[in-house]
Order: sequence, then structure tokens, then C-alpha cells
Amino acid sequence: MHQFSFKNESLHCEDVDLAELASDHGTPLYVYSAGTIRQNYLALENALDGLDHEIAYAVKANSNLSVINTVRELGSGFDIVSGGELYRVIKAGGDPGKCTFAGVGKTEEEIRYSIDAGIYCFNVESEEELVAINSIAETMGKVAPIAVRVNPNVDAKTHKYISTGKSENKFGVDFGLIEGVYERASKLANVHLKGLQMHIGSQLTSVKPFLEAVEKVTPLAVSLKEKHNIEFFSIGGGIGIVYEDALASGPKKWWDGQSAGERPLTPALYAEKIVPVLKDSGLKILLEPGRYMVGNAGVLLTKCLYEKKGTAKTFKIVDAAMNDLIRPALYEGHHEIVPVKEKYNSTVKMDIVGPVCESGDFFCQDRELPDFQPNEVIALMSAGAYGFVMASNYNTRPFPAEILVDGEDAKVIKPRQVLEEIIEDELDALEE
Ligand code: LLP
Repeated sequence: MHQFSFKNESLHCEDVDLAELASDHGTPLYVYSAGTIRQNYLALENALDGLDHEIAYAVKANSNLSVINTVRELGSGFDIVSGGELYRVIKAGGDPGKCTFAGVGKTEEEIRYSIDAGIYCFNVESEEELVAINSIAETMGKVAPIAVRVNPNVDAKTHKYISTGKSENKFGVDFGLIEGVYERASKLANVHLKGLQMHIGSQLTSVKPFLEAVEKVTPLAVSLKEKHNIEFFSIGGGIGIVYEDALASGPKKWWDGQSAGERPLTPALYAEKIVPVLKDSGLKILLEPGRYMVGNAGVLLTKCLYEKKGTAKTFKIVDAAMNDLIRPALYEGHHEIVPVKEKYNSTVKMDIVGPVCESGDFFCQDRELPDFQPNEVIALMSAGAYGFVMASNYNTRPFPAEILVDGEDAKVIKPRQVLEEIIEDELDALEE
């Protein structure tokens, strides 16, 4: 679900013309739709109606303060993975008491900061971390709230780099060892057992692995509730979005079973399968959606610089690159590509590439697309999650600007970085 569509042959985000935004603010430019984020959040909320649950937005997907604030206003909690993300949530006006802190390598500094801030819970990923949190809390004269992340050994059937629920992945404690860890935790004076957590992977396009994991782990959660009085079971994030045909109107391609492409994992379908397994657990169910909330709510606008016709290929060279959006290079991620002006009759097979000096710097290869020309702007769709947050200054390229659209309003929520900002601290060192 999203609010990007053509109006008067020009691609709009809600009521704002994307070609105008590109000409006013330059490219590359990230544009997000606040309405889409709200729509996604509310659809999931509605689907889960009847289940005692809470949504904790996975901040890593898009951590711009204004995005955090948009979900905060909806009442969402937060799933964080660093002291830095906690800092962002607090600065955006979020309540640390609604934050769960995940990740296999929390540092002492991060643990202290989070205990001080009063987070809801640490999701502990190893026995060693459990012991560390207990002793840090002891030195602070505090009791730290914890849940342990269980690795259910379920195949999420997603890209191997974003699959997390198999025994060979670094995440969580093996299913067979988890009860021993709760026993040990229950004997430690400075931790308080509050829940159980799991997360099997990201960009799941089928409900089956979720169901398998929930069916396997819910009895464990219930037994931990009986033994240790835990209050919540977090089933993680991972709800996949549709990257292909992101602008196709209506359900025709995705539902009729005729397309080999991705099927949408709708909140309704997700809820229909998992709620019956969870609803009598007596536990509060936490969900940690990231991509689902913001993925389809963002685009990356980029301008065509050159067309280069070689003997083997036609390259369209654009001003965005892998440092701005790394998903195609890192996960073979597919993003739909749409010229913002709807005026093309002819298509051509092309590679769209950026200026970075690597052959992995492409947004698509051998894709048949409208034959757009230099100076024209195209939109890389579904770039709201794991886009800007994974950007770097590689090749000393400044970060793009970010804009949040809400109805007719378009607000710069992060200005384009300037070169001085990239080198200022190095210059200081040079001048010392
Ligand atoms: N909870 C935990 C513990 C996680 O590790 C993650 C994501 C989430 C929740 C949110 O998952 P989501 O709902 O967004 O699927 N950069 C990659 C995705 C990395 C996901 C990492 N963990 C990409 O662009 O595909």
C-alpha cells in the first residue's frame, strides 16, 4: 500500500509533484509519504485487533527523526539496535520505556545508557551478554529488564544475508538451550525476566515461515510464562513488501496466481494465520516491523546524466549511486524504476548505473524500461526502508536530502550534505 501515483501524467507523492520536488531540491533526493506510513501502521493495527499486542517500529529501517516522530504520534513503540538509535528515539520525543534493544553485540556503554534511560527491555542474544548486563546493572544498583532471543531454527526462505532464524545464523540462543538460559537468568539478582523474543528474517513474502516459527515457539513462551512469569512474546519483524510492480494499480497481478512475481503478504493474511496460535497465550505479543512500515512509503529520485550506448549494452548513467541505495548491490534487491513524467511510447533494454567506480554500482541490468533521456528524473520505488540509513560517503559523495510529504506539504527533514561537512573534522586535524 502506498500513496505514489500519476496525476496529470506526472508522478506524485500524495499531492506533491515529484518532478517539482526534484527541480526545487536537486537530486539524488529521498521522498517519503507520511500518509503511507500511517496507512501501513493502521492496517496492521486493525488486522491485529482482538490480540493483546504492541507494535515496536524497527528504527533501523528508517531512522530519520521526523519518520520516528510520525510513528511515535501513532502510538508505536520502538525496536532499537544501538545506543545511537535510542538517542534518536529520545531526540524525536519517543519514550525509552517503549524501546526494546536487540542485537548480538551491545557494548557496556550502550547497556549503561539504556539502563539509565529506562528502556522497556533488552533482547539478550547470548548467555555471555546476560551475565554482562547483570553485572553492569549491579554496579549501577539497578535491575535490568530482559528477554532472551530464541533461535527457532526455521528457514525464512529469504535472501541469505537477511535470514536470521537458522541455527547457523549468529542470532539468538538455540531452541534446545533456551530454557537453561532462563534458569540461569532467574538466579541473577540484577536482571528481571520480562519476555521472550524471536526474529527469523526480513522480507518474507510468505506467511508460512512465520506460522511455522510461531507454532514452534508459542508453547515455549507459555511455559516460560508459567515458570518465570514473563509478560510478553515478541515475534519480531520481517513482513515483506512488494518490490515488483510497485505502481501496478489494483490487485490484478498479485492475486490472480498468474504472475511469478512476489505476492503481497498483507496484514490481514498475516494476522489470519498467526493470531489463532497466539491469542490464548496470555502474553502480550510484540511485533517489530521495519520495512513493512516504511519500505513502500519512500522513493529515491535521481536524474539521468548521460546515455552511453556500447556494443553490448545501453547504459543510462544517473546521479544516484550504490552509496545512496545499496540494496541492489548488496542483496540483489529489485526496485521498480519509473520516469516521473508519463510520456514514453518506446522502451529500451538498459542498465541504470551510478557514477561510483565499481561494476556493482547499478540499479538494474538488462531491464526493458521507457527510453528516458539525460536531464530527466526517474524514481527508484520502494526505497523508504534500508535506503538512506545504509548510505555512505563512499567516493566522497554527500548524503542526499530527505523530504517528508504529508498531503500537500513537503518538508525537508534532512538537508543535502555539503562537502565541507564531510571533511570538517579531518580539516581540523590537518590544521592542528
Ligand atoms: N527485529 C529484528 C531483531 C531485526 O533484526 C530486524 C531487521 C527487524 C526487526 C525488522 O525487520 P523488517 O520488518 O524490516 O524486515 N538491510 C536489509 C534488511 C536488514 C534487516 C535487519 N533486521 C535490506 O535492505 O533488505
